[in-house]
Amino acid sequence: MATTAKDIFVVGLRNAHAMESQAQEMMERQAERLDDFPDVKEKVRVHLQETKDQIERLDECLRSFGESSSSFKDTAQSVMGNLAAMAHSVADDEILKNTFANSAFEHYEIAAYKSLLAMCSPAGADSCRTLLEASLREEERMADWVDQNVENVTNMYLSKEIRRAA
Ligand SMILES: [Fe+2]
Repeated sequence: MATTAKDIFVVGLRNAHAMESQAQEMMERQAERLDDFPDVKEKVRVHLQETKDQIERLDECLRSFGESSSSFKDTAQSVMGNLAAMAHSVADDEILKNTFANSAFEHYEIAAYKSLLAMCSPAGADSCRTLLEASLREEERMADWVDQNVENVTNMYLSKEIRRAA
């Protein structure tokens, strides 16, 4: 059977669904342990809700192609698995590792949505475009925030550790 653009697009939607499920799991674990960094905790909480909305949007696109989310199982992609593992480590500097992993995750997600959007026309999936664009914008905003917060979070971590050692 010949592979069509639609087939490739549907695989891309499933991969994005697995990616977002993993993002959700990672942020749920992070949110439990971010009490020392209330700004980050609040941002993760907001993006966690956005991520749930993104999963809904992917479900909606999948349903429009006759796929239900229960008909496939999210398989963790190894890159994402490694990043998530990094973010799950309970180390003193976990806030830094979380920040690096979140930055990588958001940029991975941005690329995935851009790729899906590039396939909309050839796959005859223009009805998915608005949904995917909404998710892409959210990922771009989160990536910007994470990137802009790297120095801030590093300085907070430094002063916290120095205070603790004093
Ligand atoms: Fe995201």
